[in-house]
Amino acid sequence: MAVRRLYPDQPPHFAFNDENLAWAKAQIAKFPEGKQAAAIIPLLWRAQEQVGGWLPEPAIRYVTDMLGMAHIRGLEVATFYTMFQLSPVGTHAHIQVCGTTPCMLRGAGALIETCKTRIHPEQHHLSADGKTSWEEVECLGSCANAPMVQIWKDTYEDLSPAGLEAILDMFEAGETPVPGPQNGRTASCPEGGPTTLTDAALYDGSTIGAWKKRFDETSDVAPAPAAAASAPTVAPSPPASASPKNPAVHPAALTALANAGLVKDLNARGTGKPMSADELARLKTTTQAAPLTAAQSAQVTQDAKGAAGKPEMLSQPRDGKGDDLGLIWGVADKLAEKLNALGIWHFDQIAKWTQEDVAWFEEAMGGAFKGRVTRDKWIEQCQKLASGWRPGSDAGERPKG
Ligand code: FES
Repeated sequence: MAVRRLYPDQPPHFAFNDENLAWAKAQIAKFPEGKQAAAIIPLLWRAQEQVGGWLPEPAIRYVTDMLGMAHIRGLEVATFYTMFQLSPVGTHAHIQVCGTTPCMLRGAGALIETCKTRIHPEQHHLSADGKTSWEEVECLGSCANAPMVQIWKDTYEDLSPAGLEAILDMFEAGETPVPGPQNGRTASCPEGGPTTLTDAALYDGSTIGAWKKRFDETSDVAPAPAAAASAPTVAPSPPASASPKNPAVHPAALTALANAGLVKDLNARGTGKPMSADELARLKTTTQAAPLTAAQSAQVTQDAKGAAGKPEMLSQPRDGKGDDLGLIWGVADKLAEKLNALGIWHFDQIAKWTQEDVAWFEEAMGGAFKGRVTRDKWIEQCQKLASGWRPGSDAGERPKG
C-alpha cells in the first residue's frame, strides 16, 4: 500500500451544506456527552461525499473542530483508513483493488494491470478523461470471492480482467453495474451449484415426514395436562430399590409422572411398546404401596435438585428494584440484562450459589460461559457487594471505570 499523504493542492476552506450540517448534528447527538469523537468516521465520510469522493485537509479540520478534537486526531483517522481518499478521484469511479494474499493468489495482479493500462500507469492518478482512478488496498473482507474490487460503497467480486473492463465500461457510461459476484454464483456458494446435501428428498418434506411418523408411533410422552404443571419433568436417579426395568427412574418419580398422566409407557420405556391400562394400574399400586424411607426421600430430594440444579430465581426484583449488577467485575450492561431475564436481580442471590448452582447457570448461559463465574470470582464479589461494599471504597483501590 502506498504512503498516504495529503494532496498538495488543497481548497482554502470547507463547510457542510445545510442538509449535511443537519445530518451531522443528528449523528453527534446520538453519542453521550463527552463521547462525540466517536462520530468522526461518519462525519468524515459525509464530508468526502460532499466534496466529490475525496477528503481535503480543511474538511478534516472542520470535522474535528465540530467534534472538539485536536486536528491531529482527525488526520490520524483520515490517513489510516483507505476508505478516505486524500487526493481527487475519478468523477465516475474510484477503483480500490484488493492486493492481499487471497486476492493476489486468485488474480489481483491481472486486475491491477487492467487498471494500469485502462486508467493510469500509477495509482492515485486520474484517467485522461478524469472519469476514473484506481489504487491498491489491503483486504476488503471478501476473500471468499477473490479477486475483488471496491467502487464507492459496493464490492465487485469473482472478477476477471474482462469482467473489470465491463464494469469500467458501465461506470464510464454513467451506469452502475450490479455489485457482488461477477461469475454467476450466489454469494460464496460453490461455482456450478451445490456439491453437498444434493439429495432432493432433503427439501421436499419426505424425510421429515418419515421421521415424524416414526416419532409419533414410538413416542411415550403425551402433552402435559394443565393439572400436571407442578409434576416433575426430570426423573431423579434411583436408590437401590428402583425398578430393574426402569433403572434410571425412581419409583416415586414414576408414580408422580403416571399420576400426572405425563407418561403412558413406564415399564416398557425405551422398548417402543405401549403400556396397557392394567399394567399402568398395577404399576401405580406397586409403587404407591412402597413408600420411601426418610433416607430415600432425602436422596430423591438431593437427586432432584442435582437434576434441576437451579439456583434461586426471582420473577421480579424485591421491593421493585434490583441491585446494580454492573458493579460485578466482568458484568457489563448487556450481561446484566441477561441475568435479570433469568431471574437474577440481587447480589445476595449470587452470593449464596453452590458449585451446582454455578454449573446450572453456566450451562444456561451457553458453552462459552463455562468457568467465567469462578474465574471472575462472582460469588466472592457478590458476598462483598451484598454486605454494602462498593468498588473503589477500599483504600488505594482504583475506582470502577
Ligand atoms: S484478500 Fe482480498 S478481500 Fe480479503
